[in-house]
Amino acid sequence: MVFTYKCIDALSPYCPCYLAETQSCIVCSVLQGKDTCDCNWQGFCVYQEYIWNGRKKKNFRKALEVKISEKKVINENLAIFKVMLPLPASSRDFSQPGTFVFLKSLDSPSYFELPLCVMNANEDENSLIFAVQVIGPKTKSLVQENRGFLLRGPYFNGVLGLKHIKAAKGKNCLLIGRGIGQASLVLIAKALIRGENEIAALLDPGAINYNLAEDYLKKLNVAIKFFEKEYLVLGDIVLNLIKERNIEMIYSGGSDIQHDLVKSIIIQSSRKIDLVISNNALMCCGEGVCGSCAVTLGSEKIKFCKAQLENWGA
Ligand code: FES
Repeated sequence: MVFTYKCIDALSPYCPCYLAETQSCIVCSVLQGKDTCDCNWQGFCVYQEYIWNGRKKKNFRKALEVKISEKKVINENLAIFKVMLPLPASSRDFSQPGTFVFLKSLDSPSYFELPLCVMNANEDENSLIFAVQVIGPKTKSLVQENRGFLLRGPYFNGVLGLKHIKAAKGKNCLLIGRGIGQASLVLIAKALIRGENEIAALLDPGAINYNLAEDYLKKLNVAIKFFEKEYLVLGDIVLNLIKERNIEMIYSGGSDIQHDLVKSIIIQSSRKIDLVISNNALMCCGEGVCGSCAVTLGSEKIKFCKAQLENWGA
């Protein structure tokens, strides 16, 4: 299978980036050091932007100091934070589905930075909500913080198949969230509601023992069902919902095992259903520079902090 992809940052204020300067652009063959132009045209020429910008990168994401205005310790595994963005930063720039940031507590060294999904963005108060599951030293240091964080972002590639969310209009959609994967459901639900889509959600508390997205989704009038920790049960529930609600798009927020299961159920249903999944690649820099998110697909190494697969789930 040949995989085609677009760069999530193309057409954003962050293109061209460091990869153009180092002849490593993921989409522009000229900015990869080749002689010929051979890109997967996105309606936008990265090379032209690079020339117009004086052969250098545009804006780069700087770390902002953000204040914690609310902290809820839900249980020993989970804390939820509300942080206030300092002007001129705007929470609107963090409200696209799949947006994530890198966070660290104020006194930790830079290698404590951790990628974290934006759970909700409130434009009236210029605030963001994050949920932190305690897993290791980085997450422990975040949940111990009471004053503020250093925040670097926004980064946009937290979900794969974003085009299906952006294009969805009047569709029947199903959101599936397990454990901390539920944090990504809220911005997706908001975007789908703007497109006048019908939404149902399936939630499992998973390892965090808490349904993070429940209150937010209820306020958005999303019909919610719960599933237990057994994936066999999930398979049956999803298949029934696909038939009952004539589901046309599914978002899976959770592990790769969950994504594979959902994909197999879609195949089993024999229906044309768009699949969107949470991006579980290991992120370290978010800029396409370190290579920690690279996955070999076919003959290519694809950097998943930048690449939106075009034919995922097709
Ligand atoms: S996270 Fe560093 S290259 Fe993708």
